Amino acid sequence: MSEPRKIIIDTDPGQDDAAAIMLALGSPELDILGITTVAGNVPLARTSCNARIILEFCSRTDVKVYAGADRPIARPLVTAEHVHGKTGLDGPELHEPQMPLEARHAVDFIIETLRREPAGTVTLCTLGPLTNIATALEKAPDIAGRVRELVMMGGGFFEGGNITPAAEFNIYVDPEAAAAVFKSGIPIVMMPLDVTHKVLTLKSRVASLREIGSRPAKALVEMLDFFERFDVEKYGSDGGPLHDPTVIAYLLKPELFSGRDCNVEIETTSPLTVGMTVVDWWQVTGRKHNARVMKDVDADGFFALLAERVGRL
Ligand code: RIB
Ligand code: CA
Repeated sequence: MSEPRKIIIDTDPGQDDAAAIMLALGSPELDILGITTVAGNVPLARTSCNARIILEFCSRTDVKVYAGADRPIARPLVTAEHVHGKTGLDGPELHEPQMPLEARHAVDFIIETLRREPAGTVTLCTLGPLTNIATALEKAPDIAGRVRELVMMGGGFFEGGNITPAAEFNIYVDPEAAAAVFKSGIPIVMMPLDVTHKVLTLKSRVASLREIGSRPAKALVEMLDFFERFDVEKYGSDGGPLHDPTVIAYLLKPELFSGRDCNVEIETTSPLTVGMTVVDWWQVTGRKHNARVMKDVDADGFFALLAERVGRL
């Protein structure tokens, strides 16, 4: 096997964030340099707790957690307890994490890591609002040229939005941060709702996770049982969209996904559509491509990968 791929996971756990983190922990192809937390699904104190709880479920307290931004760069925080529950990780019984938070701020950790590691070797995996990344770019513009790739869960185009008719939650919470990241020149791979609404936690798919029976797998299944209830009620679907692990699955098996290079702009002013990702899928604007936008996924292949890797924890 070639050198493991160095990644930083920036996250707002969130049950689907937990699935993404577990997928990464079970994959030796990846070297997790650190986990940085951001306010999003729930406030920062909770996301920073949740990231450590997930690592303790997996007995992986060797991975360090750095707390980041507690609010978006230019607007008040909007959270999603209605989806994720008060803790953000509702489902399993949760303990108080024993492992410490690192003293360094997430933004400084991101900057220092990108400056220390050889240019083009670190991948940023963002699972929540892009506040930490935008803040790091503002503080250290030189890091933009040092990022290998930024693979993000966020946005939507033909699928519309999930927190408003036009906007997906991660972008909606901090549209100014998203606009800065999409303008940065960093090579971006975007996993929008158009992909994640195709990876529904069908009973047959969760069954393979349920059979594993380990502590991490049991906790994850209890999280997913809780997490899907909101989307099942809202969409009448069989299962909920497992958004965030698509980011990690892309690193492991990019062939599971298909999409195209597009221009993506972020609406930051209109009260009606703020947070909308305006994806030029049909290439009508002639604007510069700034993201590889994914649209389709082999959902069964994705769940098979997730179960196989969680089974290794
Ligand atoms: O819109 C879905 C995204 O918002 C996911 O990352 C979920 O965890 C929440 O952060
Ligand atoms: Ca998330």
